Amino acid sequence: MLYNDFLRPLLFRWDPETAHGAAISALAALQCLPGGPQLLSAVVGRPPQGLEIKAFGLEFPNPIGLAAGFDKDCLLPKILPALGFGFLELGSVTLRPQPGNPKPRLFRLPLEHALINHMGFNNAGAAAAARRLGEIPRRAVPVGLNIGLNADCPKTKAPEEYAASLRLLHAQGDYFVVNVSCPNMTGLRDLQERLQLQRILTALNLINAPRKPILVKIAPDLSDAQLPELLGLVSSHADGIIAANTTTSRLGLSPDLGDIQGGLSGRPLRGVSTALIRKIYRLTEGRLPIIGTGGVETGGDAFEKIRAGASLVQIYTGLIYRGPTAAVRILRELGALLAKAGFKSVAAAVGSGAFDDAASGGDS
Ligand SMILES: Cc1cc2nc3c(=O)[nH]c(=O)nc-3n(C[C@H](O)[C@H](O)[C@H](O)COP(=O)(O)O)c2cc1C
Repeated sequence: MLYNDFLRPLLFRWDPETAHGAAISALAALQCLPGGPQLLSAVVGRPPQGLEIKAFGLEFPNPIGLAAGFDKDCLLPKILPALGFGFLELGSVTLRPQPGNPKPRLFRLPLEHALINHMGFNNAGAAAAARRLGEIPRRAVPVGLNIGLNADCPKTKAPEEYAASLRLLHAQGDYFVVNVSCPNMTGLRDLQERLQLQRILTALNLINAPRKPILVKIAPDLSDAQLPELLGLVSSHADGIIAANTTTSRLGLSPDLGDIQGGLSGRPLRGVSTALIRKIYRLTEGRLPIIGTGGVETGGDAFEKIRAGASLVQIYTGLIYRGPTAAVRILRELGALLAKAGFKSVAAAVGSGAFDDAASGGDS
């Protein structure tokens, strides 16, 4: 395989953030080229048909999306669909620009097919994101915009600041995500507490006109006691949930990795996030749309998350380890698995394994 044998070893010689910057620059150059997206799509291959799905009032050509954090500055909405994605989530974007945490802040764990990141919402701010997105108004797939909070924002002002970002970005997104789960921003995850989150969602709903779907992205580290209350609030004040962000736990990784600060993503997160999706689906009786993310690398991983209750699935770390053809290959594998299991559509498979007792242990 070209990526596994040549490109990945080359990219992995560079420090992870430099390699990421190079990938973004290459994609940005291709995006500017007349016919660039078509060229990339021809090289990567076309995603299979027949995997369309509707969720929170939007129509998606397929259920595999790009997770937040890859394109934090919303630079690439025209070229990224050429990688086969059925939707994109861009950001996290904060109200004001900010540099993020000191480098190094992104680490590869190649044996584990994982990453640890401590980026800290480095981005050019909501006004710049809105301007860039406004320059590319026609998009091939739905685009979600993920909103975070500046490091210097007192948590009491969180509702105003999320709302101010939404106001700037509203015309440019098809759905919006309230990120209250990034582990790299001190105190941000406290905003998952019921009253705090209620204030934020109320502020957003007040200015969400014309109405667009708002989702809440949660941490995989919530306790079983916190979950029912949180889900009640999200069900009444938002349109869906994303499970999950990166984890602060080290999930049995070698103890010498314990010193690396940040959120862990990729293969070690897979079972934890799938178990969380299953719990959410069970607790909400399938009524709350779920985007599942965490450790998806293969069609089998995506199928597990869909069977656990996710209507849509996102990848980030899997893209780094499997390369630019990741989404198309996942979709082909997923299509084959759905057909083999006798499902006529993606929607028919959503939640089909959520109540399997064998699956309830969470180790998927
Ligand atoms: C380098 C990096 C940066 C990320 N930045 C963000 C972010 O800005 N906002 C966000 O909601 N999630 C962010 N994430 C989390 C991902 O969107 C995703 O929830 C998580 O990585 C689990 O999926 P994965 O295992 O497929 O990577 C980031 C992840 C990584 C690896």
